[in-house]
Amino acid sequence: MYSFKNDYSEGAHPRILQALVDSNLEQEDGYGEDRFSQKAVELIKERLGRKDVDIHLLAGGTQTNLTTISAFLRPHEAAIAANSGHIFTHETGAIEATGHKVLSIETEDGKLTPLLVKTVLDYHTDEHMVKPKLVYISNSTEIGTIYKKEELRRLSEFCRERDLILYMDGARLGSALCSEENDIELCDIPSFVDAFYIGGTKNGSLMGEALVICREALKGDFRYHIKQKGGLLAKGRLLGIQFYELFRDNLFFDLAEHANKMSGLLAAELSKVNIQFLTQSPSNQIFPILPNEVITALQKNYGFHIWETVNTDHSAIRLVTSWATREEAVLAFIDDLKKLY
Ligand SMILES: Cc1ncc(COP(=O)(O)O)c(C=O)c1O
Repeated sequence: MYSFKNDYSEGAHPRILQALVDSNLEQEDGYGEDRFSQKAVELIKERLGRKDVDIHLLAGGTQTNLTTISAFLRPHEAAIAANSGHIFTHETGAIEATGHKVLSIETEDGKLTPLLVKTVLDYHTDEHMVKPKLVYISNSTEIGTIYKKEELRRLSEFCRERDLILYMDGARLGSALCSEENDIELCDIPSFVDAFYIGGTKNGSLMGEALVICREALKGDFRYHIKQKGGLLAKGRLLGIQFYELFRDNLFFDLAEHANKMSGLLAAELSKVNIQFLTQSPSNQIFPILPNEVITALQKNYGFHIWETVNTDHSAIRLVTSWATREEAVLAFIDDLKKLY
C-alpha cells in the first residue's frame, strides 16, 4: 500500500532529524528565545529582504490561522474566505470559536478576486451585521491552484483601498512558489499582503509554520496572543532548529520542487490516457476524474482521498505528492492505472 493521501504522511527530511539530534544536548532558553529560533528568523528575514517584518514560529496551520485572525480582528469583525478555504471547511469552526464569523464565497478555482470580495462587502452594509475586515487566501489553494503575481497585486490593491487586512495561508507556499506556472518570489509577498505564513509541516519538517507579519499596526503584543492560545512552546527551539535547517540553504525549495516534480509526472502521464482533471493544478495536489470501478480497484494498493462525486459513474480523487514521494511509486501507480483502462 502506497499513500498519496497527504504531504505529511512521512516524518521529516533526514537533514532536519539530524539537526535535531546534533543540537539535542545544547541548553537553550525557552519559548522561542533560543539561538536557533533567532537565527531562523534572521535567515527568513534575509530571504525576504525585509528586516522590518515580525516573524513567529508556530506549531501548526490551524493554530496559526486562529491565533492570527483572532489577534487581528476586533470583536465585531469577520473574515472572508473562499468556500474551499481551509478556515471555512476544515478547521472545526476554530475561527468562529474565537468569536469571528467566516463569510464564504463560492469560487471556480479556490481563489478570491476583488470582484468576489466586493460582493461580500456590498451585502454587509451596517452595524446590524458583522463587518468584513480580513481577506483570507491560501497559496497554493486547497484545490491546488496558485495565485499569479497580477492576481495578487489586484487583490492587494483592492484590500488597501477598502481598508481590509489581506492574510495568506501558506501551508503549501513552497509548492506554490516552486510551481512552473508561478511568477511570484518569496520576497515579493510582504509587499502584497499584511501577513502570511510559510508552511513547514507539509514541506519536510516534523511540524512548524513561520508566520510573517508585515503591517506595523498588526504586530503589537503578538506573543501574548500566541501564549494565550496555547501556542508558545517551551521547547520552541524545535521549531527554530527545523526552520534554520530549511532556510540555511535551498532545502525548503528543493523539497517543494521534488513534490511538484512528482505531481507533474503523475499529471502528465494521466493526461496521456485522456484523463480529465477537476482543477488545473500546477502544484503538488492533483484531482483526476476516474470511473468509480477504477477507483475501487486502485484503492487495493494505494491510499488517496475521494474528493468529489462528478456524476453517477465518475468521481474526482485527490493525489498529493510530498518531498519524500518516490518516483518508483508514481510509476507503479501509473502502470496499475493504465492496466485498468
Ligand atoms: C491550506 C491549509 N491551511 C491550514 C491547514 C491546517 O494545518 P494543521 O492540520 O497543521 O492545523 C491545512 C492542513 O491541511 C491546509 O491545507
